[in-house]
Amino acid sequence: MNSPGSFSRLSATLLCALLIFPSALAAAPTNGSCDTIDQGYRCSPEIAHYWGQYSLWFSVPSEINVDPPKDCSVSFASVLSRHGGRDPTASKTMAYRLTVAQIQSTATSFPGEFAFLKDYNYTLGADLLTDVGRQEMVNSGAHFYKRYAKLVANKPPFVRSSGQARVIESANKWLEGYAQATKNSTIGSIDLTIPEGAGVNNTLSHEICTAFEDGPISKLGDNVQDIWVSKFVPPIQARINSQLGTNLSVTATVNLMDMCPFDTLTSPTAAVSPFCYLFTLDEWHQYDYYESLGKYYGYGNGNPLGPTQGVGYVNELLARLTETPVDDHTNTNTTLDSDPATFPLDRKVYADFSHDNDMSAIFAGLGLYNSTKPLSNSTVQGTNVTNGFSAAWTVPFAARMYVEKLSCTGEKEESVRIIVNDRVMPLEFCGGDEVGRCTLGKFVESQSFARSGGHWDQCFVDATVSARR
Ligand SMILES: *[C@@H]1O[C@H](CO)[C@@H](O)[C@H](O)[C@H]1NC(C)=O
Ligand SMILES: *[C@@H]1O[C@H](CO)[C@@H](O)[C@H](O)[C@H]1NC(C)=O
Ligand SMILES: *[C@@H]1O[C@H](CO)[C@@H](O)[C@H](O)[C@H]1NC(C)=O
Ligand SMILES: *[C@@H]1O[C@H](CO)[C@@H](O)[C@H](O)[C@H]1NC(C)=O
Ligand SMILES: *[C@@H]1O[C@H](CO)[C@@H](O)[C@H](O)[C@H]1NC(C)=O
Ligand SMILES: *[C@@H]1O[C@H](CO)[C@@H](O)[C@H](O)[C@H]1NC(C)=O
Ligand SMILES: *[C@@H]1O[C@H](CO)[C@@H](O)[C@H](O)[C@H]1NC(C)=O
Ligand SMILES: *[C@@H]1O[C@H](CO)[C@@H](O)[C@H](O)[C@H]1NC(C)=O
Ligand SMILES: *[C@@H]1O[C@H](CO)[C@@H](O)[C@H](O)[C@H]1NC(C)=O
Repeated sequence: MNSPGSFSRLSATLLCALLIFPSALAAAPTNGSCDTIDQGYRCSPEIAHYWGQYSLWFSVPSEINVDPPKDCSVSFASVLSRHGGRDPTASKTMAYRLTVAQIQSTATSFPGEFAFLKDYNYTLGADLLTDVGRQEMVNSGAHFYKRYAKLVANKPPFVRSSGQARVIESANKWLEGYAQATKNSTIGSIDLTIPEGAGVNNTLSHEICTAFEDGPISKLGDNVQDIWVSKFVPPIQARINSQLGTNLSVTATVNLMDMCPFDTLTSPTAAVSPFCYLFTLDEWHQYDYYESLGKYYGYGNGNPLGPTQGVGYVNELLARLTETPVDDHTNTNTTLDSDPATFPLDRKVYADFSHDNDMSAIFAGLGLYNSTKPLSNSTVQGTNVTNGFSAAWTVPFAARMYVEKLSCTGEKEESVRIIVNDRVMPLEFCGGDEVGRCTLGKFVESQSFARSGGHWDQCFVDATVSARR
């Protein structure tokens, strides 16, 4: 595994895979590409679909057929997308580098699947997309175009991006993939970039709800993760330390697990990294739960003000669906949203680019996971959305929510469907039918939480008061 060449990387990975997980061979790519437009990331799914928000996008199984129902045509399509796969954030990349250095300077042996670590060179950067992440976004643009080709002909999307570099680049890569799929050589451009930062009203980046940003509940996600870490990590830590002869801390053990997705994101073929084979499938399920807890209690239904952070975007979505002005008093920017140049209401195709945390809040604001079993703060209950929320199913890299309106023969009113990473959401809260449809009227009615501003009134009350809620 010393050569960085993709062939040896792939074959070494396959060898490891065969030794530990014989089923991995079946999942290996036949044409050298793990990432595909239709299925997303398809190599070693038994590992790669359990990395929480660090999973590469994959097409999530859907109980309801994702194809538009018979006798219906799509009359409106909107996508809300996360940026593609990136390097670790700046503080994380420093921590990972130190963990690798600690292992290399203190390990007494590198047995079996640990052998590659002896000479592993840490080369990960910080914060920006990797080439694999860029390709995810190109594929995502093509995925959207393929699905909505009939609708979007001569109707270029209205594109907004949150202001961070990796989000902007993701939007541009998505437009590139979209243009490639249309065979139109002109690549579209972002119509509006909304800056990120304290004091900025940006429905694609939370910043301004004081109690959520700075109050005790801003620590809730971390606190719940810590409880679970204290249960699931020690046995893994003991095993790794006894195999390597090291004294890695709990945190360093989690860092080593994080290296699996992030090192995978540096591989030109994107076959899963050798770091991934240092852990068992059960351990990956526990890790997926760990990451899911962070999103659920940090930004989702588990956080008293999580769903409220998504309210501004939901109200913008309702405005677009109904072609009526935005009615919101949370984090929308009224200057932008009242100007047709920055918030048109007459378009049929929209694309917005954001982050996992904001999307988690928006999904919660919509109520999309109101009927899944709440995540326990102390035991693994489930690793998929069917029986419990999973970050891998909701906000992997290049995650995407499609909201579509359908016009169906014999029906007077248009209907709405929501598709999260290719999984049709049942919309049980507005009478979703067997194909996941609600009438537009019933859908708007169901969104009373957002229409009434969520709990925005609690954002600016004394922090100790909001903590007691
Ligand atoms: C790591 O870098 C060193 C120095 O540049 C080089 O000699 C070594 O071959 C590299 N190892 C791997 C596994 O690429
Ligand atoms: C590899 O095959 C997949 C699935 O058939 C396809 O989507 C993808 O575009 C192919 N990749 C290349 C590089 O040919
Ligand atoms: C090609 O794409 C550009 C940019 O999105 C768009 O303005 C133009 O209308 C498209 N041309 C056709 C023929 O669809
Ligand atoms: C709202 O948008 C306008 C126009 O881009 C900008 O000048 C203003 O600073 C924004 N206000 C807030 C609070 O974000
Ligand atoms: C975890 O859940 C238990 C039981 O519901 C609760 O008492 C405890 O406060 C929770 N811990 C955190 C950090 O939320
Ligand atoms: C292992 O590290 C912990 C702190 O993380 C330290 O308290 C302990 O003494 C170390 N053990 C050895 C054998 O170095
Ligand atoms: C920004 O949001 C705050 C808090 O809801 C609101 O008071 C303010 O009017 C908004 N600013 C703009 C320009 O919309
Ligand atoms: C989701 O649950 C919250 C909390 O119970 C509720 O306020 C909201 O209306 C629900 N959303 C939908 C769409 O039913
Ligand atoms: C999700 O969980 C349900 C219930 O435990 C199980 O039947 C189903 O097979 C799981 N689906 C996937 C894709 O893991």
